[in-house]
Amino acid sequence: MKILSNTSLKPYHTFGIDVSANTLIEAYSASDFTQIWQDYASVPKLIVGEGSNLLFCEDFAGVVVLNRIKGIEVEETASHWHLHVAGGENWHELVSWTVEQGMAGLENLALIPGLVGSAPIQNIGAYGVEVNERCDYVDVLMLETGEVVRMGAGACEFGYRDSIFKRELKEKAIIVAVGLSLPKVWVPVTGYGALADLNALSELTAKDVFEKVCEIRREKLPDPALVGNAGSFFKNPVVTKSVAEKIEASFGECPSYAINDDEVKLAAGWLIDQSGLKGYCVGGAAVHEKQALVLVNLGDATAADVVMLAQHVVDTVYRRYGVKLEHEVRFMAKDAETSLEALCQH
Ligand code: FAD
Ligand code: EPU
Repeated sequence: MKILSNTSLKPYHTFGIDVSANTLIEAYSASDFTQIWQDYASVPKLIVGEGSNLLFCEDFAGVVVLNRIKGIEVEETASHWHLHVAGGENWHELVSWTVEQGMAGLENLALIPGLVGSAPIQNIGAYGVEVNERCDYVDVLMLETGEVVRMGAGACEFGYRDSIFKRELKEKAIIVAVGLSLPKVWVPVTGYGALADLNALSELTAKDVFEKVCEIRREKLPDPALVGNAGSFFKNPVVTKSVAEKIEASFGECPSYAINDDEVKLAAGWLIDQSGLKGYCVGGAAVHEKQALVLVNLGDATAADVVMLAQHVVDTVYRRYGVKLEHEVRFMAKDAETSLEALCQH
């Protein structure tokens, strides 16, 4: 492991907020994590992958541990490729490598920032695919016992931007590896509106889907290397059909996706956009001009700017549509996770 003291976290999270941690440690194995949890038993600890779903609200008064466990193993059977991928591998590099190797199945999830070990936490998803659809198992280090336990996908209780790792196992388990299963019989997923053009191709390949997804994402989403952000700031809200119908009657048709017979997921980006908030700024934080669901750091945003902007977005959308947006981005206070609601009550 590698230990640094009183370190700026700016390079370690994609929002680019200028905060620091008392200690920063790179962990290269499950036993490094166990050791760190023993050595720093009495101080707050936070695992960070690439910090692409995090908002640090203040300096972190404890140890930030970077997951750097590496390694990819592939087992081929008659019907599948089975991948065992260490948690510290970069997600997009994995997707790109599988597509190059002719192992199709992850192409819709191209260009999602972050690490493989973070992917199951909010069950990353894009363009009609969620990682749980390719996930066989998740290997977790249980912090109470020090044991590495294999959890089948069913036990992870995956949902839309949700899993057991955000709930019962929060701060109790560290994801050290993920097992992915890619069927050799490839079924392309091109139902998501923006991928529709691909259906015109006579011989569609996974590489075509990969390239199209990368093209769309580069067009709409700000590159965190240039403009600080954490992707969609809010989740798309799930509402009853009758709420969606009322919104449609008053404001026109909001893009939506059916969840079941009674519920639909509304496009939060549309609700924010139609509220006239694109480009709206608080200090150095703004609603992105091309994708209203993304809040950006224009250069010198403070966490307080982002928090005030997020609250303004939530209030404006609620007043107009009666729909309460919840943030997808994980808020970190000085020693534990917090939330927009908790911060704005003070
Ligand atoms: P971090 O942000 O470092 O960590 C996220 C949370 O997981 C933290 O609470 C952290 O403590 C915890 N954690 C991290 N690693 C572990 C571990 N090994 N064990 C236990 N807990 C851990 N997400 C999507 O789903 N779809 C998208 O299309 C998408 N697009 C994005 C586009 C951009 C430009 C950006 C910046 C983000 C986007 N995201 C998207 C969000 C983000 O990429 C994902 O949530 C990603 O999985 C986060 O990975 P990370 O390694 O950066 O995690
Ligand atoms: N829209 C607008 N204005 C906007 C933004 C969006 O009208 O400013 C409309 C679009 O025209 C489209 C609809 O809203 O009709 C949906 O937009 P988009 O396809 O861009 O997807 P999204 O719902 O905004 C979700 C995920 C993204 C994921 C994309 C693609 C959530 C919270 N976000 O965004 O994930 O990449 O779909 O599948 O579910 C992330 O989680 O960080 C993330 C980027």
